[in-house]
Amino acid sequence: VSAGRQPALGTLYLDTMRVAFVGKGGAGKSLIAGTFARLLAREGEPVLAVDSDPMPGLTFSLGIDLTDAGIPADAVVERPEGEEGPRFRLRPDLSPSEALRRYSATGPDGVRFLQFGKLRGHSSELMRSQAAFHSIVHDLPEEEWSLVGDLPGGTRQPFFGWTRFARTVFVVVEATPASLLSARRLARLAQMTEAPQVLAVANRVRTPDDEERVAVGTGLPVVAAVPYDEVVVDAECRGRPLLDYAPESASVAAVKSLLTRVQFEERAR
Ligand SMILES: Nc1ncnc2c1ncn2[C@@H]1O[C@H](COP(=O)(O)OP(=O)(O)OP(=O)(O)O)[C@@H](O)[C@H]1O
Ligand SMILES: [Mg+2]
Repeated sequence: VSAGRQPALGTLYLDTMRVAFVGKGGAGKSLIAGTFARLLAREGEPVLAVDSDPMPGLTFSLGIDLTDAGIPADAVVERPEGEEGPRFRLRPDLSPSEALRRYSATGPDGVRFLQFGKLRGHSSELMRSQAAFHSIVHDLPEEEWSLVGDLPGGTRQPFFGWTRFARTVFVVVEATPASLLSARRLARLAQMTEAPQVLAVANRVRTPDDEERVAVGTGLPVVAAVPYDEVVVDAECRGRPLLDYAPESASVAAVKSLLTRVQFEERAR
């Protein structure tokens, strides 16, 4: 638990969870984030899964058949001349909660899904829809929704404040030199002001050594070890979410234990 994140006396206890998954490209962020979001939703929590990768991968692990939905450009209005603040803001008749209800897709287990932006479309429209995405994700009342974020690979978005909505950031990491190197960079998020709790999730674990190497190589607490699992590959080839294809698999069990562990930790803080 990082210093400075203790809730002040009198702080409302929040039942919701706000987590973001970061890591090197291909580390397993989308697989784990989507499975995590659905397991959390099965406990009866309203869950919003957000994919801030313009090349979305989260829809596959969630089981949402959609590649082209997005937030329309007219969800935002331009800042009037002479006023301060960001260039675009949500239309005055749209609260973040209302915008979420309107523009998110609903997937299995009732998970809501919000996408960062379509790849197609004119760039000025894309900018507007991305501004709306930001307002919704960052201004949504904390007590209403649990948020599960899937970030693009690498360090750019995490270091530019894209994990600001999260109270816990999971660095998904494999015990390979390249993956550990990028995880070490991401671990520095923990030293930033306003840092969330930063934890490692070891993925594609093959031996007990792998988990240890992730711990040593990142300097982060390892809160889950997801095994290398052939059924993950099978599920993917069949175009099915892991959770539906192999609900009893070792990899799903590992994500379940991650959820339980983090619920415990968030409550203990
Ligand atoms: N534990 C695992 N066992 C076997 N295969 C896995 C495991 N975790 C992930 N994979 C496979 O690795 C690939 C990358 O996973 P995924 O798309 O979740 O990674 P990502 O970090 O979201 O990638 P990107 O950075 O491209 O968004 C996928 O083909 C996935 O099925
Ligand atoms: Mg991904």
